[in-house]
Amino acid sequence: METKRTLGRDGIEVSALGFGCWAIGGEWQSVDGQPLGWGKVDDEESVRAVRRALDLGVTFFDTADTYGAGHSERVLGRALGKRRADVVVATKWGNVFDEETRTLTGADDTPEYARRALTASLKRLDTDHIDLYQLHLSDADPERAAELRDLCEEFVREGLIRAYAWSTDDPARAAVFARGEHCAAVQHMANVLQDAPEMFALCAELGLGSINRSPLAMGLLTGRRRSGEALEAGDIRNRPPEWLKGFADGSGADPDWVGRVDALKEVLGSEGRTLGQGALAWLWARSPHAVPIPGFRSVAQAEQNAGALEKGPLTAEQLAEVDRILGR
Ligand SMILES: NC(=O)c1ccc[n+]([C@@H]2O[C@H](COP(=O)([O-])OP(=O)(O)OC[C@H]3O[C@@H](n4cnc5c(N)ncnc54)[C@H](OP(=O)(O)O)[C@@H]3O)[C@@H](O)[C@H]2O)c1
Repeated sequence: METKRTLGRDGIEVSALGFGCWAIGGEWQSVDGQPLGWGKVDDEESVRAVRRALDLGVTFFDTADTYGAGHSERVLGRALGKRRADVVVATKWGNVFDEETRTLTGADDTPEYARRALTASLKRLDTDHIDLYQLHLSDADPERAAELRDLCEEFVREGLIRAYAWSTDDPARAAVFARGEHCAAVQHMANVLQDAPEMFALCAELGLGSINRSPLAMGLLTGRRRSGEALEAGDIRNRPPEWLKGFADGSGADPDWVGRVDALKEVLGSEGRTLGQGALAWLWARSPHAVPIPGFRSVAQAEQNAGALEKGPLTAEQLAEVDRILGR
């Protein structure tokens, strides 16, 4: 498979696989104590994992200012070090947080806040520009978003960012951002259990990169998470908010979801792939614009996920087989 993808009309080249840096931010929470991280992390292991990914050809990293309340950006910046120039860094803004207490305190969709957030992200990432700046407020008001899109064009002119995107699951909202000249992508949920046909169609029509968040269904698609097995107390999957599907409060993976993953084992495991590699291969087969960004917390996970690249996409027959198994 061609292991590179181009994001948008400006020709920003990335590896077909990006690395999602939410989990490596470590623990943080909402004001009422809802965990928003993935439990404890070892920063040294995160740094080693990022560097291993670089060695294996990964050139795209997705984070957000709010992951770990600034911590993910700092760890990523440190891990990249002098190799910053070799990679494409994406981050996000819109959520407000307190770095000291590692707490999400609200959201802010004003242009003034966007500029402050950008300045802070540049500092934490220890860089002079962001390659892809993404609006993190998935349901933001489209009229306000149009203003923020125009502000992003200003950021491009000032050399502070190269391109921008909206992280949203609503194609109509994604289209609002896409009217901007330097809008290069949309970040949206997509995995073999949660297809996104309208978003894939929009990306094809408008020539946008399709950055796929939760490509492993938050770990379910690796087969490691079973039902009846609680996760760590500080893990968002242990106390899933309404939007987080596939996990039950305090009792691990939802049995229905585990059943569907088990049913896909053979087809996703073709050509010696691990289940997770098969899930990434499904996305590459699903759309030529797809750039999955699986999360990771260890060198072993980094190696396994990066290893999916050389195995390439599933075949058209295997795609059809997946649909048949899932009754789609
Ligand atoms: N609104 C937004 O913009 C938004 C929302 C969600 C995510 N994202 C982005 O998308 C990225 C990925 O999505 P996600 O974090 O939701 O989840 P994901 O990529 O679907 O799942 C990642 C999790 O799967 C497990 N895993 C990964 N590789 C593995 C391997 N080789 N073997 C076994 N388990 C493995 C790890 O969890 P365990 O080992 O702990 O099970 C890992 O944290 C995030 O990091 C973030 O950058 C953005």
